[in-house]
Amino acid sequence: MPTTDITLQERLQSARFSAFGAIDFWKENESGIEGATTTGKFKFTVYGSGLIRVQASRFSSFEENPYSVVTEPLTSGFEITEDSSSLQIQTSQLRLKIQKNNFQLTFLKLDGTVLNEDDSLATGWIGTEVNTYKKVQANEKFIGLGEKTGGLNRFGSAYTNWNTDYFAYGTGDDPLYMSIPFFIGTHAQGSYGIFLDNTHKSVFNFGASTRRFIYFGAEDGDMDYYFFHENSISEIISSYTHLTGRMEMPPKWALGFQQCRYSYYPDSEIYTVARTFRDKDMPADVIYLDIHHMEAYKVFTFDGEKFPDPKALIAHLKTQGFRVVVIMDPGIKTEKGYLPYDEGSEKGLFVSYPDGAEYEAQVWPGWCAFPDFTKKETRDWWVEKMQFYTDAGVDGFWTDMNEPASWGQFTPNLIEFDYEGQGASHRKARNIYGMQMARSAQEGSAFQNPKERPFVLTRAGFAGIQRHAAAWTGDNVASEEHMLAGVRLVNSLGLSGVSFAGYDVGGFAGEASKSLFARWMSIATFSPFFRAHSMINSNDAEPWAFGEEVEEISRNYMKLRYKLLPTLYSSFYSSSKNGQPISASLAVDYPQDERIYLSDFQNEYIFCDRFLVAPVESTKEIMKVYLPAGTWYSLYSDEKFEGRRTHFVECPLNYLPVFVKESSLFTCQSEVSHTAEQTDGVLSIHTYPGEQDCSFIHYEDDGLSLEYKKGAHSKRKLNYSAKTKTIELTEVDGEYSSDFDQLRIYFHDFKGKEVQVNGESVKVKSENFAFLGKLTEFDPLPETSHPFHEIQDLTFIEIPNSTKRITIQL
Ligand code: NOJ
Repeated sequence: MPTTDITLQERLQSARFSAFGAIDFWKENESGIEGATTTGKFKFTVYGSGLIRVQASRFSSFEENPYSVVTEPLTSGFEITEDSSSLQIQTSQLRLKIQKNNFQLTFLKLDGTVLNEDDSLATGWIGTEVNTYKKVQANEKFIGLGEKTGGLNRFGSAYTNWNTDYFAYGTGDDPLYMSIPFFIGTHAQGSYGIFLDNTHKSVFNFGASTRRFIYFGAEDGDMDYYFFHENSISEIISSYTHLTGRMEMPPKWALGFQQCRYSYYPDSEIYTVARTFRDKDMPADVIYLDIHHMEAYKVFTFDGEKFPDPKALIAHLKTQGFRVVVIMDPGIKTEKGYLPYDEGSEKGLFVSYPDGAEYEAQVWPGWCAFPDFTKKETRDWWVEKMQFYTDAGVDGFWTDMNEPASWGQFTPNLIEFDYEGQGASHRKARNIYGMQMARSAQEGSAFQNPKERPFVLTRAGFAGIQRHAAAWTGDNVASEEHMLAGVRLVNSLGLSGVSFAGYDVGGFAGEASKSLFARWMSIATFSPFFRAHSMINSNDAEPWAFGEEVEEISRNYMKLRYKLLPTLYSSFYSSSKNGQPISASLAVDYPQDERIYLSDFQNEYIFCDRFLVAPVESTKEIMKVYLPAGTWYSLYSDEKFEGRRTHFVECPLNYLPVFVKESSLFTCQSEVSHTAEQTDGVLSIHTYPGEQDCSFIHYEDDGLSLEYKKGAHSKRKLNYSAKTKTIELTEVDGEYSSDFDQLRIYFHDFKGKEVQVNGESVKVKSENFAFLGKLTEFDPLPETSHPFHEIQDLTFIEIPNSTKRITIQL
């Protein structure tokens, strides 16, 4: 075996491309193949029938990222063969052909069609930079890559992964706060995913400035990627989230409306904001404490003047049904006598220069040291420190500035991190730092408050971040363009395993116009994470701060959000089990439909698996919507629209275009002012007929504790059969007793007078039904600008929820 170490001399000389070279030697191992080429060593490891890991290294041992992957390789279920020119690994779904003379890889389906193929340049190094070059298949689309601006189809653009604090980024700027080096390629022959598991700065070039290939690689470390193939995009996402882990079920309050401000202070302002939500009958669950709650911006302190009694404040908010989330920044002021600094310094928990001196940079508190979250001792220490907040009654944690950010925004690369004992410079550790801070916050919350589920919101992260935290898209701007770009960012995060994500409603920087704020609230009602936030020194931006009309529109949509909570909560549950996006780009279900990639339609998405949301600027009153295959119902009027066509639809400010997929079932509850408030006990089930079968799992638990893991949940499967036109509610599974005692089942697009329930005829009742309330005409003069939609004579029946099995024949 050739020696694979590269000397310093060789590194300095290797300014030109150096191919990985021909295979010299190989052997089978437990989970695949390993061997060496003329310049380095390689390994192919089977992780699943549709998942193979490719590693190529010029170091003496393969580099490992200990943070992202949580599963183990297979030891059977694949076959290895060799012929004169290639090696082949075959599973029940996938064949990998490895060209011996140049390490060129081809991934094929078992019928021989090519999914993905290396260019003849295959894999190689330029100095320490390693890349793999891939051919583009006819009409191939590239989607995902996490928190990246730009279009849904990334073909023609290049992106860098380097976690960056980017205030008021432009909608085409890159890189932003979070790096997820995972994308999906899709073309007529099939779809695949590639996850580059290298935490160094990496680049994905989908054909910018070249038409020969696309390529991806990192500025140092190994070529180390996982290749996924499944029959659908959603199965690829499932496989990726099986590999890197899935979101834990969050507390239900984290699905409610959240109000933030940089910053609310003093405490009297928070009392007022909370009371105003209740006075104005606007449902909300969370208030944030941004950096001004601290004394001189020092984490683990409260400003004694502005917040003399945080415990009493938080306790009072709780009586009004509010939860409090506190910001935590990583920078620890280097001030002797400040306990967190003294302790961290004494215990050696901060990142340092190679000579051991603590690294300092400036953030809000001035000069700061930075906890090394890639070190277990530091994480454990942070977990202990968080008692400061939980003792005060804080419920959730917001890890900000964890790229890590510092003034000047240019951390020197020689700074050293523990990286789980491996030792790494800033070049390798930066991208993982924020995720490890979020992990510490999650562990701290779980440790300090063991009876409740943690909620952590993070700005920075890396592949696998979904296991620890929800994400928001940082310092966006109050503009129409940003509102739509935020939707694409969240959808792209969803394609990359992060299903709990959102954006600052109203825009963090700048001032939202009245109409922009109203539209943003309506769109964000259909976002997994729903928070309004705005910057210091800007106008008030609470949902009542934009006049009566916006206040009513906001209230209407906030109420809709809470009415849809049973569906949303059920979707979160499914996503925690299968990793599917809650806000899913149309590319998930319709990847081969060319029209969904067009700039007019690329922002459309499916929310909770059944609502097609068509985000639109607040300046438009009519928009062009493309509806993919099938029949679609307007949420507000039940008007039917045919799919595979564009439609011009009206979009006045109080009606964001939302459509329900044919063959849909979803559940709703009565209005509440916060997620823990008791409903009227009626669970509404909305049913829509159609040509396909469908099912929906209605999920309930206590919304807060971990008891659901021990069976304290209630799951009920709702099935619709297109052929027999029956709706079936299976028996409840689980030991949680449902929050609802009555079912009210609505039959959309049903003209009959009766249905058969468990074999007996039941007369249907009917009512005019509206998902959104009517707006007040504020101006005493006659006004026609506020259309009102309701569904006329919507039929329904009522059944006690205690009925074990229910079969309804339409
Ligand atoms: C930057 C964050 O992105 C923003 O949301 C926050 O308000 C400020 N830091 C102040 O903490």
